[in-house]
Amino acid sequence: MGVAAELVLLVLAAGKGTRMRSHRPKVLHPVCGRPMLLHVTALGRGLGAKRSVVVVGSGEEEVREALANEPVEIVSQGEPLGTAHAVLQARERLQTHRGPVLILHGDQPLYRTSTMEAFLDAYRSRSADLALLVAEFPDASGYGRIVRGRDGRIDRIVEEVEASPEVRAIHEVNVGGYVAEAPFLFETLARVGNQNRKREFFLTDVVELALESGRRVEAVRIEDWTEAIGVNDRADLARAEALLRRRFASHWMRQGVTLVDPERTYLDADVEIGPDTVIEPGCCLRSGTRVGAGCRLEPNVVIDASTLGDEVWVKPHCWIEQSSVGDGCIIGPSAHLRPNSRLEEKVRVGNFVEIKNSHIGRGSKADHLSYIGDADVGERVTIACGAITVNYDGRKKSRTVIGDGTFVGCNANLIAPVTLEPDAYVAAGSTITRDVPSDALAVARQRQRNLEGWRRRHFGKKDD
Ligand code: UD1
Ligand code: CA
Repeated sequence: MGVAAELVLLVLAAGKGTRMRSHRPKVLHPVCGRPMLLHVTALGRGLGAKRSVVVVGSGEEEVREALANEPVEIVSQGEPLGTAHAVLQARERLQTHRGPVLILHGDQPLYRTSTMEAFLDAYRSRSADLALLVAEFPDASGYGRIVRGRDGRIDRIVEEVEASPEVRAIHEVNVGGYVAEAPFLFETLARVGNQNRKREFFLTDVVELALESGRRVEAVRIEDWTEAIGVNDRADLARAEALLRRRFASHWMRQGVTLVDPERTYLDADVEIGPDTVIEPGCCLRSGTRVGAGCRLEPNVVIDASTLGDEVWVKPHCWIEQSSVGDGCIIGPSAHLRPNSRLEEKVRVGNFVEIKNSHIGRGSKADHLSYIGDADVGERVTIACGAITVNYDGRKKSRTVIGDGTFVGCNANLIAPVTLEPDAYVAAGSTITRDVPSDALAVARQRQRNLEGWRRRHFGKKDD
């Protein structure tokens, strides 16, 4: 068994996040559709950690709720008095743990699992008592700086607020990733004070304390510094989003997906796309979306938590939410599939058609200007221009059932609950309130009268 089996991931997520100027706890701001904290807890799974513990405090209720489906333990910090104080909250739970504790910040969503694996390997192979991640930043402002001694080994970390101009000039930063054995970690932490400008207990002080007691501290360099970006304000948030988006775009291009303009394609975490699918600019694929192979998504299509089969063609400006679309369907332009719409194979949904909570059978079509809500539509059904289901009477919603092969003429109103049996035919302009039997024509409109000579009688002799 590897060390991973004994690994504990400890995530700090209790800070105030003042610089975000938000009502929402900082760690819950999404990056590529997933709260940044969940990008960090996902590392625990990726690393096969035995346990993951999250320290919560500011906005505790909301943060707990966001973690409800995560396999993590939660400890409460109450008043956030600094990063060292945050780690100490896990003391009771982890004190007796034998094995490494990996400490990460909940506001750093860009780490790769492979980077953390390399970090843990370095911790082991260099026999460190404490290892920490460091990186060379082009602009280090805001970060703790790494101060090294003459021998080139790390001496201490200096927080920006405490730093002299010389120290501020250092580009090597403390990334905010630490690994140590639990007993040593907690003993050392208990000795951290708050004698600094912020009156906070700085986790970074453990470096000096460990060195003073003759322990081995190893600074492990992260190759790609962009992985180490911390999100403190909205500008950082946008930067993190852009970097992760680029990473997802490269991944899917390597998997055989064409992104016509990767910089303007918005692929969230937890999205899957089949090979030979072509995605044009402005498309957003939100978390929980699965797109099959050989699909074509034209500009500005937004898909949220939905499944598309293979060879689906979605024309510009469609909005598909929590729905499923079968192989070979053609959707749009400007169509709206609202939650729980299920389209079987080869369905056609044209412009300005809205579908909600409905099942549409194979080969059926609604090409223009329709509303289909709470309906069960069979196969090969034609819903002509402007035909709608009238599913709501102001109090309750009712279902419309349309059998296979039925034809619903233009501008028909189908007042639910109502059933059109297979191969029924509804005349254009009809308002249908009663069931229609198989093969019948339903006509529900006034017969036309032509009043001969009416115009001249009414308006007088035509002027020339
Ligand atoms: C911290 C480091 C700094 C490092 C930087 C990297 C300290 C003192 N400084 O600074 O050296 O370069 O991260 O991003 O550690 N938190 C708590 N409880 C608290 C305070 C913070 O849980 O009492 C959590 C926050 O929610 C956040 C993380 O710890 O996820 C880091 O806190 P933050 O205030 O963002 O620290 P930085 O100023 O970025
Ligand atoms: Ca931070």
